Amino acid sequence: MRQDGAVLGLEASCDETAAAVLGADGRILAEAVLSQLEEHAPYGGVVPEIAARAHLAHLPGLVARVMREAGLGFADLAGVAATAGPGLIGGLIVGSTLGKGIALAHHLPFVAVNHLEGHALTATLPGLSDAPPAFPFLLLLLSGGHCQCVAVEAVGRYRRLGTTLDDAVGEAFDKSAKLLGLPWPGGPALERLALRGNPTAIALPRPLFGRPGCDFSWSGLKTAVAQAVARQAAAPADIAASFQAAVAAVLADRAAHALAMLPGASAVVIAGGVAANAAVRAALGGVAAKAGLPLIAPPPRLCTDNAVMIAWAGIARLRLGLDDPLDHAPRPRWPLAELAGASTAR
Ligand code: KG4
Ligand code: ZN
Repeated sequence: MRQDGAVLGLEASCDETAAAVLGADGRILAEAVLSQLEEHAPYGGVVPEIAARAHLAHLPGLVARVMREAGLGFADLAGVAATAGPGLIGGLIVGSTLGKGIALAHHLPFVAVNHLEGHALTATLPGLSDAPPAFPFLLLLLSGGHCQCVAVEAVGRYRRLGTTLDDAVGEAFDKSAKLLGLPWPGGPALERLALRGNPTAIALPRPLFGRPGCDFSWSGLKTAVAQAVARQAAAPADIAASFQAAVAAVLADRAAHALAMLPGASAVVIAGGVAANAAVRAALGGVAAKAGLPLIAPPPRLCTDNAVMIAWAGIARLRLGLDDPLDHAPRPRWPLAELAGASTAR
């Protein structure tokens, strides 16, 4: 890797189209994210074919924009990193093919980035916290597609400590919000409604609370919300607040168990859209403080899907001499634990 070279990152694995340019030291030179919320909102969820077409329409323009803002030409880059999985196959093909094309045309190394590795390494971006967390640290990945406790042991070395047995926590927010008549995506709307409610208004189940390990399960809680709404057990704001309190309590319990499974953890890191939720942040902050550890919560724009994290994971891999061949196939399913063999050491 050219020590002074910047890296271009591309993200198109779900419903955010994003590009970013980072200096070799991790400084953000330019970043852009286009959300497709409006395209998908009429359907109440992400429609894969619409997502792929929107990525195709918007990603090349975003790349031109971030390169212009960074004041760089492709020849100035040290490499190109694109999300190659896990995610929706159409968008993965759009993003990684564009990245490979730029790499091929300008003789640059290409890095096929695992989206989850991007989330996992965000906390190590320089300047994000007082001091970047040392390995290992505990990552709670709390998004619409993922709900996992991960031991981040090194670049490329991840151990999943626990995961969801059914829905992701963001899905639980979205489904409960829908039951309460709120628009998609429901998380932020439910949080706003909950502000006016009483979190102790109704007793809702706290699935797996206190159980060994750090797996999650949310479907029973969602069903209880459906029943509470149908019975009109409480005002919508009270149901929302009670739901959020149950989620925060379960997350805190699971995080405490995860920490017990990772002695030597230097920090608790949260990522994913649900990490933007204030009640969730407060509950997890309490768990970290009790263990004498910092809670690192990246700013919301770096918690949700973005290309800064993809460029940064690309830089981390290029520093280790890890890049990928141009015939690397995108992977809709790509568990972090399978990462080590995914790249070829030069
Ligand atoms: O990480 P993300 O932007 O996209 C992926 O799923 O990859 O996460 C989106 C999820 C959605 O389920 C959304 O409802 C949830 O994060 N979310 C929230 C909040 N903001 C976003 N959930 C609760 N409270 C929020 N403030
Ligand atoms: Zn994500």
